[in-house]
Amino acid sequence: MSALRHRPTRSPDSLPRRAALPALALIAALLGACSQPQQGDPEARASRIEPVAKISLKVQKVAPGSRTGEQIYQGTCAGCHAAGALGAPKTGDAAAWAPRIAQGFDTLTKNAIGGIRQMPPRGGGADLTDTEVQRAVAYLANSGGAKFAEPPVAK
Ligand code: HEC
Repeated sequence: MSALRHRPTRSPDSLPRRAALPALALIAALLGACSQPQQGDPEARASRIEPVAKISLKVQKVAPGSRTGEQIYQGTCAGCHAAGALGAPKTGDAAAWAPRIAQGFDTLTKNAIGGIRQMPPRGGGADLTDTEVQRAVAYLANSGGAKFAEPPVAK
């Protein structure tokens, strides 16, 4: 009889277990409260990431393959050709370009793609497509008096 009466207080783990349940419930309630704002407002979340999305769109606006001769010239070729660095025929310099132009568009393009002496292949613009190099060659040579037709950019 006395053994029965003492059983509840003798059980060593009954107290922690009883305390654990409300504690778990509290944690669950807190977690629920924390995650609510994230799930609740997709609009707010979208507006928070919007600036990042806009920036990546801007970067992709001029995709490789659809850049104009002038854009490529400004971004890649001007580094040498604007000042005539490394012996490059200078932009707009008809005397420097005349003997080059005389070689014809195809030779100029081939040399611009493959590189020629101090000029690296594609002027260092590794992601330029062949057509884009053609556009840049036309733009550059035309500045020196050529009348090459720049391959159009597909819309
Ligand atoms: C790192 C400097 C540099 C960059 C960048 C550069 N060029 Fe040149 N380019 C040269 C030099 C130097 C020459 C003269 C090479 C020679 O004949 O000795 C040259 C020559 C040329 C020629 C004449 C080739 C020939 O057959 O006579 C063309 C066309 C040309 N470049 C186009 C371009 C285009 C288009 C770009 C941009 C996509 C470009 N270059 C970027 C340095 C550069």
